[in-house]
Amino acid sequence: MSVVARTPVTVTVTGGAGQIAYGLLFRIAAGDMLGPDTPVRLRLLEIPAAVQALEGVAMELEDCAFPLLESVDISDDPWDGFSGANVAVLVGARPRTARMERADLLAANGPIFTDQGAAISASAADDVRVLVVGNPANTNAFIAMSNAPEVPAERFTALTRLDHNRAIAQLARRTGAAAADIARITVWGNHSATQYPDLGHATVAGRPAAGAVGDPAWVRDEFIPTVQRRGTAIIEARGASSAASAAAAAIDHIRDWTLGTAPGDWVSMAVPSDGSYGVPEGLISSFPVTCAAGEYTIVPGLEIDEFSRERIDASVAELESEREAVIGLGFAKHP
Ligand code: NAD
Ligand code: LMR
Repeated sequence: MSVVARTPVTVTVTGGAGQIAYGLLFRIAAGDMLGPDTPVRLRLLEIPAAVQALEGVAMELEDCAFPLLESVDISDDPWDGFSGANVAVLVGARPRTARMERADLLAANGPIFTDQGAAISASAADDVRVLVVGNPANTNAFIAMSNAPEVPAERFTALTRLDHNRAIAQLARRTGAAAADIARITVWGNHSATQYPDLGHATVAGRPAAGAVGDPAWVRDEFIPTVQRRGTAIIEARGASSAASAAAAAIDHIRDWTLGTAPGDWVSMAVPSDGSYGVPEGLISSFPVTCAAGEYTIVPGLEIDEFSRERIDASVAELESEREAVIGLGFAKHP
């Protein structure tokens, strides 16, 4: 007997033939992202050179016979790929190559996210929600947002949930607690080595994390640098950037945004700032958020001590310089 009753949701994923997508698409189709009773229509976008590989991924999706998967369409045209999308996960990006500076990466990704923002604006569904995974994720999201005049700015977000999950894992390892017993971790700022993973409000089994951690120097000397550099450590170990964990974090991000966060807890999402915590309005920066009824709210009123202030400001300064760079290159304009 079928229990599938809800309206299908159209999900566009870019970079469909890449390694993150290989960890992501099968979980979306299995219902891990939108719930066990929501049918999914997948639209997969790639560059022309990767369409043949994408056809293979589509064949594998078909071969799983997922009960929730209504259709899989593939395209190399953003104007077609985002048509009717309720959820858009922008994974595809130009990777950093040897001797490429961050400015070169911003310049290489600018045209991709300019076009995709415009295509989302023109052809996605009215309720579209966008998650940018491709790096530099916050600034790529800013470019897409700037080029999507028909879409409310707050629908553009970037992935810092992987950093949030990494912070939970490090605290669990340190304290011996289960990941499920850890709450109220925050990642502030950019998805980069300047990000600030903050334990100041975190709890372990309902008690302040500070007590469970023991030596306070561990936070400054081990926890923060380990989370900040985890992406690089994985590249060094695997010879390729994180894929399955990035896919799992993208699932968590959209699931919590659409279905809601757990009572008493919050998650980290990079979202356009409303000026909270001194972050300039419109900058896509990571904040603690709660989600309900498909909307997120930045957690208000947290106390920020001097140690945290310095680190938030450093990451926000990096985001501002990225924003100025892409505005200077003509990919975006001041909000
Ligand atoms: P990958 O190289 O395996 O796959 C990327 C895919 O994107 C490729 O198949 C490529 O053809 C495609 N692509 C490139 N330009 C495209 C475009 N204009 N339209 C559609 N598709 C396009 O890379 P990956 O490991 O899947 O990683 C993808 C991105 O995610 C990278 O930028 C990586 O740095 C980033 N990333 C972000 C996080 C995060 O937490 N935010 C974590 C891990 C990786
Ligand atoms: C990660 O955090 O694992 C990635 O963003 C690293 C990278 O540069 O792709």
